[in-house]
Amino acid sequence: MTTILQLALGAAGILLLYLLLSPVAAYRRLRHIPGPAWAGYTPLWLVRRQYAGRLHRDIYELSKKYGTIFRIAPNWVSINDPAEIRRVWQARGQWYRGRWYDMFRFDQPGAETVLFMQDNAAHAALRSRLQPGYSGKDVDSLDPAVDQRIADFVSLIENKYLSTEREFRPMDLAQKAQFLTLDVISDLAIGKCFECLNNDRDVYGQIAFFTNSLPLVVAMSVVPASLVLLQNPIARALLPKDKLEGIGRMMGLAQENAAKRYGPKKIEARDMLGSFVNHGLSYTQAWLEQFSQIAAGSDTTATAVRMTLFLLMTNPESYRALQAEIDAAIREGRVSSPIRQDEAKRLPYLQAVIKEGMRVWPPVAGLCPKVCDTEQIVCGKRIPPGTNVCWDLFGVLRNKEVFGADADYFRPARWLEEKDADRLRAMEQVQGLCFATSSRWECLGKSVAQLELNKVFVEVSH
Ligand code: HEM
Repeated sequence: MTTILQLALGAAGILLLYLLLSPVAAYRRLRHIPGPAWAGYTPLWLVRRQYAGRLHRDIYELSKKYGTIFRIAPNWVSINDPAEIRRVWQARGQWYRGRWYDMFRFDQPGAETVLFMQDNAAHAALRSRLQPGYSGKDVDSLDPAVDQRIADFVSLIENKYLSTEREFRPMDLAQKAQFLTLDVISDLAIGKCFECLNNDRDVYGQIAFFTNSLPLVVAMSVVPASLVLLQNPIARALLPKDKLEGIGRMMGLAQENAAKRYGPKKIEARDMLGSFVNHGLSYTQAWLEQFSQIAAGSDTTATAVRMTLFLLMTNPESYRALQAEIDAAIREGRVSSPIRQDEAKRLPYLQAVIKEGMRVWPPVAGLCPKVCDTEQIVCGKRIPPGTNVCWDLFGVLRNKEVFGADADYFRPARWLEEKDADRLRAMEQVQGLCFATSSRWECLGKSVAQLELNKVFVEVSH
């Protein structure tokens, strides 16, 4: 009896010692890097801010106090030097994705999607098989699908939400923008448009699912080991069925659609899925890839649409300049109806608006940490192996040396005024980080997103 008691007391003592010493050890590891005191001892500082949904703004505020590199959790640093971010993210570097990306993991043993793959070699191999589908090279229906959904968007606004002299008809633009991008991506990825715009509702409950679950999942991803509490069959069984219904129906659609492309009676088509199949994806990989496109491609593009429209509405000078450019192009027969991508690319102010909207309010606001197995020097500081190095997105995209003293403000004209070719190239390169351009993880849906953005602002301005 005494021996058992002694053993239990010994174990409790060791546990207590560990609990007391591990925060100290964690603190010492990065003590040469400045940052809020508590963030050095516990991830709770970061978890709390991530859950509140203001982390990117809090980090930007911290950058004004601590400079280009600072600690935000025991094993995490944030950096905002654009050149250093480009170096860490570079296509041929040694850095790989941190375990934060596990939040995109599906409960499907052995199946990984390109969105969260952490092994660089496996990621590159899968990426090369997906590229022809995403880029539109193997796809016939990209333009018509986007045109049709934008027409639905415009007709929903015109038929239901245009206020009259007698009636005020408020509209939730943020929600309608998401209906638009969800309809586009469901059509392109799953081959079945969700018809959110035509029904004016979140038909599959996808938006509600992500809105309700994302804050918790993203907060937990700061302590990736905790994700196991959600990503297991028991947790799924305990979750209320109605909460999972929408996501379950979407998975069902993706599986059903993919199943038609395999087996003796398989359908062949020149669409994204057809391209994935032709480049050797298994059935499971194909439907998971389709499904993750919804996560990667709807809220992101919706943020670009809604925030750019919001920034235009609240900046009358920029709004009028864009409207004048579009009106002149229509009057002079320089744009078709609906506008074609090549025509949109010849409208300089429109291009400046698209770039500036995403620069001021980047749609991907995640920490996106990268990790290296060897010690590195970043922003002049020693970074021990295994440290999560993430980007301070506002700090990078509102860098005053690159974008000028008014970098915090939405001013599309900055892109047209800059006459120095080197400075303009530097601005383009840093703004390109919104899509992780030139990195190993550059957005695969960039051409789809750009197609939507090139068309939507013109079509709503007719
Ligand atoms: C304005 C809209 C969008 C923005 C700003 C955006 C931004 C990004 C960024 C920053 C990444 C890199 C994330 C990382 O660190 O790993 C990324 C990756 C990705 N995006 Fe997008 N995205 C947008 C729209 C889309 C769309 C429409 C799709 C699908 C059609 C898509 C599919 C993907 C995929 C599959 C990846 C993973 C690429 C890889 O790991 O190789 N995105 N995106």
